[in-house]
Amino acid sequence: MVPVILYILITSSLMKKKHISLIALLIVIKSLAFANTNNPIADTLVHGKVLFDTDGKPVNAHGPGVMYHQGVYYLFGEIKNGKTWLVPGQNWEDYRVPAGGISCYSSVDLKHWKYRGVALKPTVNDPGSDLDTGRVIERPKVIYNERTKKFVMWMHIDKNDYNYSRGGVAISDSPVGPYRYLGSVKPNDQMLRDMTLYKDDDGKAYLVYSSEDNNTMHVCLLSDDYLKPTKTYSRIFENQKRESPAIFKNGGKYYLITSGCTGWSPNAASYAVADKVTGPWTQQGNPCKGLNAEVTFFSQGAFVLPVIDKPGKFIFMGDVWNKTDLERSTYLWLPLQVNNGKIEIYNP
Ligand code: GAL
Repeated sequence: MVPVILYILITSSLMKKKHISLIALLIVIKSLAFANTNNPIADTLVHGKVLFDTDGKPVNAHGPGVMYHQGVYYLFGEIKNGKTWLVPGQNWEDYRVPAGGISCYSSVDLKHWKYRGVALKPTVNDPGSDLDTGRVIERPKVIYNERTKKFVMWMHIDKNDYNYSRGGVAISDSPVGPYRYLGSVKPNDQMLRDMTLYKDDDGKAYLVYSSEDNNTMHVCLLSDDYLKPTKTYSRIFENQKRESPAIFKNGGKYYLITSGCTGWSPNAASYAVADKVTGPWTQQGNPCKGLNAEVTFFSQGAFVLPVIDKPGKFIFMGDVWNKTDLERSTYLWLPLQVNNGKIEIYNP
């Protein structure tokens, strides 16, 4: 825009007035058109419809996370495979679908997603295994450890009643996998359900998860190799019953979007701001604006993706759950702006 204004100023001093306005108008129109074709976000939105990969198959990557590595975005998500059923004897809508492991897709433009295979394979007929198709394998997130040169995946591992509540960890030498499962833990002997992973600018990494039976969230510093929780953790959103954490940093502040706890049914999101990942965090209210904002436009957040080379531009990535047919759940990806420290998400 600066060169455009300079050009207008120069031409206006050289030319007669009526030509100036015409030239200025043409230049502004051209620059706007240029800006649109280069907007990486307008092209990448997913509006609760099926997202197809470059082979024309529906993307099967729920509760996703994205890692950017050497010019490529890698998308990881839950593979939901098969018939949905209701776990008997629960006092909530415990709909389950066989866990198909973790998928990986890659993209350089956030629009065309190439299927890279099953990054973490499930096991079959092995009820004692964390990765059995009869278990819960949810919300995978991957980060790269510069020191060990390993890609580290964390995920929520559970049993059908969601009382096992542990964090599973796997590593790989390649971003796309295969990932080798190392086992699961209860960080500091505490429950871990919905979770995310955050790698800060100083290389420190944190697990953020719903704990204490979903009443309170924890932020736990990981060991330097990212493979173990440390004893350093803080309790945040005490008794606020928040889940589906999605965290990002902007202008030196940390932002954490969460949902309420209503299972697969949508509810209002809320976001909090902090100066440090470990808190204290201050709730700021619903980041969603407009029609259906009170149910996050019928989605539940999973991740906030910073768009590389576009400071201040983010994509809010949500799941549109189809609770009675979970395999057919879709996605909602929306542009997220931070204006004067406040998050705004619109569903255009
Ligand atoms: C949601 C959670 C999902 C899944 C579901 C099971 O609240 O965010 O990831 O665990 O509950 O009912």
